Amino acid sequence: MTSLIRAITVSGAAVLFTTGLALSAPSFAAEPAAAAAAPALTKDQEEGKEIAFNKAQGNCLACHAISNGQLPGNIGPMLIAMKARYPNKEDLFNVIWDPRKKFGRGVIMPPMGDHKILTKEQIDKVVDYLYTL
Ligand code: HEC
Repeated sequence: MTSLIRAITVSGAAVLFTTGLALSAPSFAAEPAAAAAAPALTKDQEEGKEIAFNKAQGNCLACHAISNGQLPGNIGPMLIAMKARYPNKEDLFNVIWDPRKKFGRGVIMPPMGDHKILTKEQIDKVVDYLYTL
């Protein structure tokens, strides 16, 4: 009896295993295409993205929608086409260092550099990343 149950269980597992493989096959095949669609980020851009998305660092997603960012807030504008909107990198850096200069004292965005939330090097990397958006 025990061996019969074991035989059924084993064959059941084999069926599940085979079905699982069959189901996962198409998504496997789709992966290289998806990876090819998104251009690879440089090391600095990748680090900038991590700083921007990290809740304990830039936490930009708390207020800004950013491509591929999960659960963004909508207090600030969507961060998109940044290179076109800020052709001068320094202007973009300055907005993040201290947004009060551009938007006035009442701006909700924290002055990331002026309040020592992020270092100059970290903001440089965030700017490099934003330029890919
Ligand atoms: C607490 C909310 C908040 C956080 C956190 C925040 N921002 Fe902002 N940000 C804003 C708001 C609000 C504005 C728009 C100010 C205005 O238009 O008056 C803004 C504006 C900007 C702008 C200018 C956009 C434009 O259209 O000119 C940039 C760039 C920007 N933020 C980048 C960032 C980055 C990068 C981070 C993370 C390092 C960040 N922000 C974190 C609220 C935030």
